[in-house]
Amino acid sequence: MSHAGVLEAADRILNRGGSNEDVLAAVVELLHDGVEHYSWVGIYLVDRDELVLGPWQGPQPTEHVRIPVGQGVCGAAAASGETEVVDDVDADPRYLACFPSTRSEIVVPIAHEGRVVGEIDIDSDRPAAFGADDRELLERIALLIAHHAA
Ligand code: SME
Repeated sequence: MSHAGVLEAADRILNRGGSNEDVLAAVVELLHDGVEHYSWVGIYLVDRDELVLGPWQGPQPTEHVRIPVGQGVCGAAAASGETEVVDDVDADPRYLACFPSTRSEIVVPIAHEGRVVGEIDIDSDRPAAFGADDRELLERIALLIAHHAA
């Protein structure tokens, strides 16, 4: 699916409404099924000083269901509020390994009323899979879903 198509589908999910859990789960499913190089997609939600795994889609569960803010690539993005793109996970000392097949990762914070409330975490089995277009798409999705993650 094109990124424009993904955004339109995300709009439809948001217009349909439902519980926060339903909306976040539907967006995770859309990203996982809609973009070929998104191998594993999850949303973490901030709980005090930890990230807690919410909905996810992918071939396997991750052992990292709670990540302290500040640890790993996920914790770094939550601490800074800035998107993290890791082209080669094996070369990043912060990386917390989940799946042997993962080669690259993007983590996009979800901010609400000036504070990070969660993040979108995507692993790809392709090296350097995430470009400026992915970042733009995911930052727009993060804005769209912010009030469902707060
Ligand atoms: N790789 C992440 C941990 C989460 S898994 O990718 C699902 C990190 O380094 O924070």
